[in-house]
Amino acid sequence: MEAAVAVVVVSVLLGGIILLLALLGKRPQSDSEQDLSAKKANGEAAPEKLPAKKPKLQKLRKEKPQQHNFTHRLLAASLKAHSGNVTCLDFSSNGKYLASCSDDRTVRIWSTKDFLDREHRSMRANVELDHATHVRFSPDCRAFIVFLANGETIRVFKMTKKEDGFTFTAAPEDFAKRHKAPIINIGIAETGKFIMTASNDTTILIWDLKGEVLASINTNQMNNAYAAISPCGRFVASCGFTPDVKVWEVCFGKQGEFREVSRAFDLKGHSAGVYGFAFSNDSRRMATVSKDGTWKLWDTDVEYKKQQDPYLLYTGQISVSNPCRIALSPDARVLAISSISDITVFNTRTGAVEEEFHSVHGDVITDLLFDTNNRFLVSTGDRAIRVFHNTAGYRAAIGDMKDMLKKATNKGTKDRLQQQIIDAQSALDAVCKQTN
Ligand SMILES: *[C@@H]1O[C@H](CO)[C@@H](O)[C@H](O)[C@H]1NC(C)=O
Ligand SMILES: *[C@@H]1O[C@H](CO)[C@@H](O)[C@H](O)[C@H]1NC(C)=O
Ligand SMILES: *[C@@H]1O[C@H](CO)[C@@H](O)[C@H](O)[C@H]1NC(C)=O
Ligand SMILES: *[C@@H]1O[C@H](CO)[C@@H](O)[C@H](O)[C@H]1NC(C)=O
Repeated sequence: MEAAVAVVVVSVLLGGIILLLALLGKRPQSDSEQDLSAKKANGEAAPEKLPAKKPKLQKLRKEKPQQHNFTHRLLAASLKAHSGNVTCLDFSSNGKYLASCSDDRTVRIWSTKDFLDREHRSMRANVELDHATHVRFSPDCRAFIVFLANGETIRVFKMTKKEDGFTFTAAPEDFAKRHKAPIINIGIAETGKFIMTASNDTTILIWDLKGEVLASINTNQMNNAYAAISPCGRFVASCGFTPDVKVWEVCFGKQGEFREVSRAFDLKGHSAGVYGFAFSNDSRRMATVSKDGTWKLWDTDVEYKKQQDPYLLYTGQISVSNPCRIALSPDARVLAISSISDITVFNTRTGAVEEEFHSVHGDVITDLLFDTNNRFLVSTGDRAIRVFHNTAGYRAAIGDMKDMLKKATNKGTKDRLQQQIIDAQSALDAVCKQTN
């Protein structure tokens, strides 16, 4: 009997000890877990973090080969250096550089003279603690501005020339945050007198170069789809939900002091919202593309102060889907329109479709423009920038000159035109030789 009791006592005791041991055994474990999470919160590197990192690295490695593939006989180059999506491109006014910005927190400056080389070097400017959604060169090419995705305002970068490129220095302070809706475009006037920012509500702001707001424009277009400064630096234009494109003049006094923003003229003719517009480099032509299924070319070289309206020069058909971008060559002879990730190139005088590029980027095209010399058309929409030969532009220029030659009566003019036609034809032949 006593022995039996002793056995029970021992087994109860043993059970208790085992239970206790089990509890004790667990406790240090949970302690170490707490410790770890505390360390994590402090941002300390815990050894347990390493295995967790591995899948991430593998994922990154897997992402790389998924670059969108695109080839075309007119593709002159694919500029690849960005590790994130590119959202905006800009050529410097001297034509020497192309700037691109991406959500990889960098701005890249490319040299246009090596577009046709095998290697495409770029200089990198880091956008600290943020990334840029838009980028624009200053007219003298000694600075560029970006719009910050998180900061939601302008940051200025100085470009200092050194032996083999530039060094980039961000200004100590960003502009004040003033917009209440997402930004659709920014610009610096070629006169160096003002900066423009436009958001997708109905606001356009005009700033001086130091970051003071000079004027706020209400476009009254329900929402802004696009806005830009004319290349001459005199006008700001906007389009949106309403069918009219509105153009304002930003007026300065004799001493360069800001005076006012006044209505200049409208482009009236579309029957639905306008997705976008573009200027020729002398600001005398504008091209527009609308939800109504047409594009239009306008002569805007008018005396609007005498109530003269812009002339409609051509209406072409195109069925586009948003997101849609439009680019006009500097000489206004050709026009490119992107719809999702396709591009169509038109002759603006005949309306003929000159080229079609399909599925150029892995995602929607975010920017499209011609270089300053009418030689290339560039586009972006993923991590790559595509550079196309503007053969349509060469052909259009030759066609125009041949027409002029027929009408010319003066011998000097005839000789000059003949020489220009020969030069343009040999430039086109050289491009065709490369692309065949
Ligand atoms: C692009 O081409 C490469 C090499 O031919 C291939 O490995 C890759 O899967 C292709 N990418 C796409 C998205 O088709
Ligand atoms: C780029 O855009 C694609 C498609 O919208 C998206 O899947 C991808 O995550 C983007 N890349 C980055 C780095 O944001
Ligand atoms: C403005 O842009 C944001 C973000 O892309 C979008 O959600 C919003 O609908 C846009 N607003 C208008 C009026 O288009
Ligand atoms: C426009 O570009 C042409 C070349 O196509 C050039 O000759 C002309 O000087 C440029 N005009 C302006 C105002 O930049």
